[in-house]
Amino acid sequence: MRKKITLIGAGQIGGTLAHLIALKDLADVVLFDVASGIAKGKALDIAQSSPVNKFNIKLSGTDNYEDTKNSDVIIITAGVPRKPGMTRDDLLGINLKIIKQVAEGIKNTSPNAFVICITNPLDVIVMALQKYSGFPKNKVVGMAGILDSSRFIYFLSQELNIPVQKIDSFVLGGHGDSMVAMLGSTKVDGKKITDLVKDGKIKKERLNEIVERTKKGGAEIVKHLEKGSAFYAPAASGVEMAESYLKDLKKQLPCAAFLNGEYDTKDLYAGVPVIIGSNGVEKIVELNLSSEEKENFKKSINSVQELFNAAKKIDPSL
Ligand code: APR
Repeated sequence: MRKKITLIGAGQIGGTLAHLIALKDLADVVLFDVASGIAKGKALDIAQSSPVNKFNIKLSGTDNYEDTKNSDVIIITAGVPRKPGMTRDDLLGINLKIIKQVAEGIKNTSPNAFVICITNPLDVIVMALQKYSGFPKNKVVGMAGILDSSRFIYFLSQELNIPVQKIDSFVLGGHGDSMVAMLGSTKVDGKKITDLVKDGKIKKERLNEIVERTKKGGAEIVKHLEKGSAFYAPAASGVEMAESYLKDLKKQLPCAAFLNGEYDTKDLYAGVPVIIGSNGVEKIVELNLSSEEKENFKKSINSVQELFNAAKKIDPSL
């Protein structure tokens, strides 16, 4: 039987997710949005490209949670995006309310789904979603690390003139300005980036600039667009997670996952490498961090914790 993916939020990311899932023929797609016309219109538009792109999945749009029932995967982008000058944290109050409605909507209709959250501020919203929905923690995960890592790898490839396929790296921690690029685990064409710095192939200052640009990668796009935030790369990253779950690929992917003592962090969601397979988050991969990476990771965790404390002030039920 074909699998079913529900996309809650049919805006910029939701529409792009639907299109990518269709092009991969990955699963039937239900686009859900409070603005039902947007969901229906996009579903129909993409469906009309099926003869050209030769896919067979079904697409539909709705504002009724009944139509989303028994979904295998749910990807959530419901919420408002940033405006120029805003941080992701500025979205907290409004997106928290929206995520509570979404949790109510999905918890009885698709209790066995693997849920991927993209709505910002990511780490706190995914944590709230897990609490509001009561879904198992291994089945609720946030998309951020793949995107941040992808941005970092792209910038490195541009700087070093090396194809992205030859660069391995990832970015961990919270999905905000305190995210941590793992330089100790970054390899370019098999060579450690730290050795490239030693050999003078890239200056330490230039590498630091690339790390900073990665941290502000989303804001740079918000500034260009003037209206809305990034959607192509976030959608591609979300599909990577859904595919690893549906096909049991057991890929190691950096995602916002619930930490229960791993990385010296307890009772908090944050970006770490995880294995995603048919049981959801099957494993949290613990890497050896350098003392600098450890310190930066801790700082990042502290800012996620602070923001979650702010969320608890807004909604004491959390
Ligand atoms: N239920 C379902 N859909 C909702 C709800 C709700 N309660 N509230 C809002 N929406 C819908 C909006 O109608 C809109 O179509 O969510 C959609 C969001 O789409 P966009 O405004 O285009 O935002 P997008 O760029 O897709 O980003 C969504 O992801 O990366 C984050 O920061 C980003 O939080 C933002 C989210």
